[in-house]
Amino acid sequence: MSVILVHGSVETSTAPPYIAGLEQAARKGFEQLLATGNRLDAVEAMMVELENNPLFNAGLGSVLNRDGYVQTDGAIMDGVTGKFAAVAAMKNIRHAVSVARKVMECTPHVVLAGEGATLFAKEQGFAEEDCITEEQYRSWQTAMALLAEGKELNFSAFTGLKKETDTVGCVLLDDEGHLAAASSTGGSFLKLPGRVGDTPFIGGGIFASSDCAVVCTGRGEAFIQTLTAKFVQDSIAGGQSPMEAARLAIERMTRLTGEYGGLIVIDKHGQAAAAHNCSSFPVVLMINGVVTPFEIVQL
Ligand code: GLY
Repeated sequence: MSVILVHGSVETSTAPPYIAGLEQAARKGFEQLLATGNRLDAVEAMMVELENNPLFNAGLGSVLNRDGYVQTDGAIMDGVTGKFAAVAAMKNIRHAVSVARKVMECTPHVVLAGEGATLFAKEQGFAEEDCITEEQYRSWQTAMALLAEGKELNFSAFTGLKKETDTVGCVLLDDEGHLAAASSTGGSFLKLPGRVGDTPFIGGGIFASSDCAVVCTGRGEAFIQTLTAKFVQDSIAGGQSPMEAARLAIERMTRLTGEYGGLIVIDKHGQAAAAHNCSSFPVVLMINGVVTPFEIVQL
């Protein structure tokens, strides 16, 4: 049995184009799993699909930082080998998870950040492009104008838009019972250049093991400070169900930080769960290549 969970982040619209984008990503992941049998190929393919979709805050369509450009974070983790790799604050490169995978497979390092990550991506043949959509540029211009006038911003805390969209992530269990996770983001709107969220933090925003695979989304700082992905891992290893672990993790993160967010998780038995305490959280579950109805817990 293969199980895929893919999310478009908290506060993201659940309108048909968003769900269709997530379903398309899940299909790409499943096709890749059939084609190569490689779980990392599959999670990477899902992230590439969503990084190419301007509806989501990852790759093309990422939010702009304070200085008006895109810096992306991305990570990938294999539950079998425990191998993890990430890139952070990488300027003008669309496919953060693919670059993270190159870090994993072509270097002795685990994380590359900033200028070094961008340089490495270019050396590996990734194109440099601004990743800015018209909509995100307009949003940044509007925010800058409001700030200059001393006015309050009424944009999403997570996305920078009035129309919601944010970080993407996926977890997967393959036919052999092996787990993997990947996550990609443009981070938070108007962030300081160099700011890094939870997406590339092992144990903060992502974790995969022989017990479970988990990715988190929301205010990155809160997930880093509470090591929420590792908390989910430890809860499941301690005997809790994915649903209980997800619920407890979100409640704990909010209790400790006052922030909000969501997460998705699959355990080694293929039990899937998603929990959040925001206004929305689009998630698609695919079992053996079939999109399957699924209860997303709103706390
Ligand atoms: N959750 C994504 C970020 O905070 O960057």
